[in-house]
Amino acid sequence: MSNFAAILPSPKAALEIHPVPTYTPGSTEVLVKNTCIALNAIEAKIAIHNVIPHTPYLAILGSTYAGTLCAIGSSVKDFKIGDRVVISKRFGVKGNQYGAFQRYVVCSDIMISRVPSHIDLQIPASLMMNLTCVVGLFSGRLGLERPPLDGREAEKKGKKILVYGGSSSFGGLSVGYLTQAGYAVVTTSSPKNSSFVEGLGAITIIDHTQEQESLVKQLLDHGPYDVVVDFVSNADTLAITGRVVEAQGGGRLFTMQPGRGGLPAGVERVFEPYSESLYEERNRNLQRWLVHEYLPKGIENGLIKPLPIEKVGGGLKGLNDGLRKILVGGGGARFIVEPWE
Ligand SMILES: NC(=O)c1ccc[n+]([C@@H]2O[C@H](COP(=O)([O-])OP(=O)(O)OC[C@H]3O[C@@H](n4cnc5c(N)ncnc54)[C@H](OP(=O)(O)O)[C@@H]3O)[C@@H](O)[C@H]2O)c1
Repeated sequence: MSNFAAILPSPKAALEIHPVPTYTPGSTEVLVKNTCIALNAIEAKIAIHNVIPHTPYLAILGSTYAGTLCAIGSSVKDFKIGDRVVISKRFGVKGNQYGAFQRYVVCSDIMISRVPSHIDLQIPASLMMNLTCVVGLFSGRLGLERPPLDGREAEKKGKKILVYGGSSSFGGLSVGYLTQAGYAVVTTSSPKNSSFVEGLGAITIIDHTQEQESLVKQLLDHGPYDVVVDFVSNADTLAITGRVVEAQGGGRLFTMQPGRGGLPAGVERVFEPYSESLYEERNRNLQRWLVHEYLPKGIENGLIKPLPIEKVGGGLKGLNDGLRKILVGGGGARFIVEPWE
C-alpha cells in the first residue's frame, strides 16, 4: 500500500506530489483508501493566500473526502473494513496523516458517515463540510429545530431568517434545512442561480446583483429577521447585511470570515468554524443524528439538494487547478479530485 500526497512545501507555493508513509490508525481511528477529495474555500484560502499563517510545513491540507475503510483501530465499534464512508475533518486538527490531499488518510474524529452502495461518493463529499456547519450553526449553536426525516411537514415556527447568499453551497444547504424545519427564510441569489435556489423552499428570493440602496430596501421590507447570516461576508456584502441588522436595532450578524471593524455601531460580528458546536458533549445526539441519519437519508430522499459537481482532472496534481478555480468563484458548482487518477 504505497501512499502519495499533494504537499504544500511553503506558504503560497504550488502543491507538489511526493511519496509519504502509509499510516497505522490508532485504537479509535480508521484508515481510509481515499477515492474522492472534495474542495472547500478554506483550503484554497490557506494554500494560495496563506490565511492561517501558523499552518505547519510541509503541510498536507484537505478536510473532506470519501472512500473505503481499509484498516480499523481496536476500539472502533460503528464501522468495519470495506465500508464506504464520507468524512469531514474537524477544523484545527493537526497532523499530516489527517489531511485529505493524499491516497490513504487517517480519520481520528467522529464526523464520519456510511454511504449507501447506490449513492455516488462524490455527492456526500461535495457537501459534507458545509452540511456539518449548517447543523452546527442553526441547531448546535442557535438551538433551532431540525427538519423531520419521515416525510412529515414541520409545523411553522413563527421565526424568520435571512440567508444572504442562498446560491452559495453553505447558504443553499441552510435554506433547505431551515425551511424543512418550519422556519420562514428570505434569501438572495444572482439571476443565473435563481432556478436552483427556487427549489429550496424560501418564501422570498431577492436578486443580490441589484444596486445597493434598492437591495437593502427590499431586504428590510421583508424583515424583521430573528437571525441574519451573511454567507459571503466580503466588504460589499457586509455593507449590506450590516445595515439590515442596524436597521433592526442592532444585534448579531453571523459571518463567514473572521475580522474586525467595518460594521455599524451596535452590530456584533460573529464568526467561528460553525461545525465546532457539534463536538460539544451536549450536542452528541445531534452530531450522531447528522452523520447516521440526516446525511444519508437526506440525500436518499431528496431533502438535501447538492449543487452540480465538477471533476477537476489530473489526480493529486489537479488539486492546484481546483484550488485556483474556487478562488475565481465556483459559479454554483462544487469541485472534486480523484487522487488515484
Ligand atoms: N465559518 C465556517 O464554519 C464556514 C464553513 C463553510 C464555509 N465558510 C465560508 O463561507 C463562504 C462560502 O462558502 P461556500 O462553500 O458556500 O462557497 P461557494 O458555494 O463557492 O459560494 C459561491 C457563491 O457565493 C455567491 N457570491 C459570491 N460573491 C457574492 C456577492 N458579492 N454577493 C452575493 N453573493 C455572492 C455567488 O452566488 P451567485 O453566483 O448567485 O452570485 C457564488 O456562486 C466561504 O468564504 C467559506 O470559506 C465558512
